[in-house]
Amino acid sequence: MLKLTIDHQTIEVAEGTTILQAARKIGGSVVPPAMCWYSKLEGSGGKCRTCLVKVSEGSAKDPRPLPKLVASCRTPVIDGMVVQNKTSPEVLEARKAIVEFLLINHPLDCPVCDQAGECDLQDLSYDNGKVSCRYQESRREFDVIDIGNLIKLHMNRCILCYRCVYVADQISGKRIHGILYRGDVSEISTYIKNSIDHNFSGNVIDVCPVGALTDKTFRFKNRVWFLKPMTAHRDCPTCSGKVIAWMRGSEIYRITGRKDEFGEVEEFICNECRFEKKNINDWIVEGPTTLKRHSVISQNHYKEIKTPSVINPLEEKMETQTNDE
Ligand code: SF4
Ligand code: FES
Repeated sequence: MLKLTIDHQTIEVAEGTTILQAARKIGGSVVPPAMCWYSKLEGSGGKCRTCLVKVSEGSAKDPRPLPKLVASCRTPVIDGMVVQNKTSPEVLEARKAIVEFLLINHPLDCPVCDQAGECDLQDLSYDNGKVSCRYQESRREFDVIDIGNLIKLHMNRCILCYRCVYVADQISGKRIHGILYRGDVSEISTYIKNSIDHNFSGNVIDVCPVGALTDKTFRFKNRVWFLKPMTAHRDCPTCSGKVIAWMRGSEIYRITGRKDEFGEVEEFICNECRFEKKNINDWIVEGPTTLKRHSVISQNHYKEIKTPSVINPLEEKMETQTNDE
């Protein structure tokens, strides 16, 4: 086992574990954000740089610091390593710059975006972003396209994390689409159209950290914060059938995979469950889901807020009178 210290917390991990995986084992504030690495997708990571950390001691044998910040999702732990995440001003400053960079081309259309409220980039900006942006040049623009009759691609919002590419590549078993070109003209290839027939293609929506890939059966139907996420399952011949049914009253507005505290789906679900089963009778609804991850939409769970004992002056007056009597 290898010993690693992150933000003063020490853990022992197996050889081959990355700094990010080790941080997730500890949990809490030591976990760096990750916009491209996805534990269930082989080869993911190393694209977005949001997970940068400072290695202040390289190893037990050679405690010199590493000269630059490193991507924690791709850097394996070495015995005796000391890492700083939130405790390093340099990391926090770099993360602000990364957010600013990601927002250069990402439009601020949260008010009309289906991902608003559960968007990783929105959360990242709230937690690590700057209040202003220095970018004045025009943003790159693409047409919104349908990739099949179930998924919509807003390339303008894409941060080129490659997750959807890996989903299409690894879940459908053959190379179907990728990212064309390089630099600021890079885009998801429309070859994705060819992958749309695959019964697991809808998972590209769940892994997309922003609102670039959206569910056409749910688009503009409701805001996620008005819906109640309910844990539900069905006996599905294709996938596990374990889902979250997003409901309002007894109506199901959308179906997604169940996500863990890091925003990753626990099990990929099939298109039939996701797009075709919107009737309450299709599901055994187990009950309300507690959202495990920190997100804008979990802000409605006012567990920590203490309600004031007196809400309006009239009640205050009456309370004082009652106390006097
Ligand atoms: S469409 Fe979404 S998942 Fe695909 S590369 Fe862009 S941001 Fe990532
Ligand atoms: S999560 Fe590590 S570079 Fe994106």
